[in-house]
Amino acid sequence: MTATATATAPVPIPAQAASHSPVLTPDQLIAVSQRRYSTKKFDPTRTIPAQHWAALEQVLLYSASSSGLQPWRFLVLSDRKLREALVPLSFGQRQVADSSHLVVFLARTELNANDIERWLKRLTDVRGTPADQIETQRQRLTTNLVTAPRPGFNAGESARYQVYIALGQFISAAALLGIDTCPHGGFDPVAYDRVLGLADSGYRSVVLATAGYHAETDANANSPKVRFPLAEVVQHVDHLLP
Ligand SMILES: Cc1cc2nc3c(=O)[nH]c(=O)nc-3n(C[C@H](O)[C@H](O)[C@H](O)COP(=O)(O)O)c2cc1C
Repeated sequence: MTATATATAPVPIPAQAASHSPVLTPDQLIAVSQRRYSTKKFDPTRTIPAQHWAALEQVLLYSASSSGLQPWRFLVLSDRKLREALVPLSFGQRQVADSSHLVVFLARTELNANDIERWLKRLTDVRGTPADQIETQRQRLTTNLVTAPRPGFNAGESARYQVYIALGQFISAAALLGIDTCPHGGFDPVAYDRVLGLADSGYRSVVLATAGYHAETDANANSPKVRFPLAEVVQHVDHLLP
């Protein structure tokens, strides 16, 4: 397999990470990163095809999490009529109703022994990890996360940060499929938690993402990106202080 790819001939991707064959050229990666932008106005007549949406759900599933514990849920709302009721709870942002899909990113409010047991059971089921290794993991996770976490550690806070990784992965992946998105911190999480019935769920809303296709009239669609200079933002470190 060659290390190059074109937009018209996707490179087959190996099932496991054993191969390092790129699936995009560096230029394609830059282009798709520049093309992704926060859509201010969606075309309310367009819907993401089911197969593309299903792929984005898997992207959420495969997001990275600390110790693999996946302290999250992702609520998908595709019914536009239903979403109209959320616009007033989202600072009036029309994207919430006009997009094709809305994702509410939820974070676990705490971590307890049950969360760890649930994860260890899944690990055993999927990988057949031997019992002695499971026990080692149980002790490590329980100590680090529940009984003696490092000072200042808060599992609920940590879960909130991790949810943002899923958000980043989601918006980047959508751009690869030609799907527009917008992250939304501008909403009332308490009101969302109420209307979504999250009170006793152990999860709370953290951030939203809308996804679909931009309206022709979305001025931001063709605006240049506003970023500080690369050399200022990304700095290469070649020595440490003694
Ligand atoms: C955590 C977060 C919350 C955001 N909340 C909103 C929002 O509520 N409404 C909105 O229109 N854009 C929102 N944005 C989009 C930013 O305004 C946008 O990413 C930024 O201006 C850079 O533009 P670009 O994404 O088009 O490159 C949010 C972005 C992030 C990362």
